[in-house]
Amino acid sequence: MSRTFSILKPDATRRNLTGAVNAVIEAAGLRIVAQKRVHFTKAQAERFYGVHSARPFFGELVEQMTAAPVVVQVLEADDAVVKYREVLGATNPEQAAEGTVRKLFALSIGENTAHGSDSDENAAIEIAQFFSEAEIVG
Ligand code: CMP
Repeated sequence: MSRTFSILKPDATRRNLTGAVNAVIEAAGLRIVAQKRVHFTKAQAERFYGVHSARPFFGELVEQMTAAPVVVQVLEADDAVVKYREVLGATNPEQAAEGTVRKLFALSIGENTAHGSDSDENAAIEIAQFFSEAEIVG
């Protein structure tokens, strides 16, 4: 069993889609072992996406991620990072496969409904930014 970190983004909360996304997550066999709704501050968003700070889309990304609440989650499964990225589909919804979260729900590359960690190492770092071990209940 391993873990990944997920964010249901502002475009999902704004459109009341968090339950619909969670249904796709659970149907794929990922277990939601921690979950809470938070409204990112600018500092939180800048820290979380620090690796992208030099990219041209950084300002817009921070703006979008702070525009409305998000739902942060810890997901558990065998090979959770890889499995969840398959469930999400390509970052750009135009390239996402049928049945994936982003194909089903995303509006654009920025408003792409959900984030998933890209490695086990980053999953551990991202989880620790939002959850204590006591809040993760498997
Ligand atoms: P996410 O998995 O949250 O990680 C970084 C985010 O930057 C990504 O999903 C996209 O929503 C956003 N983004 C906006 N523009 C781009 C772009 N041109 N390339 C990659 N990511 C982008």
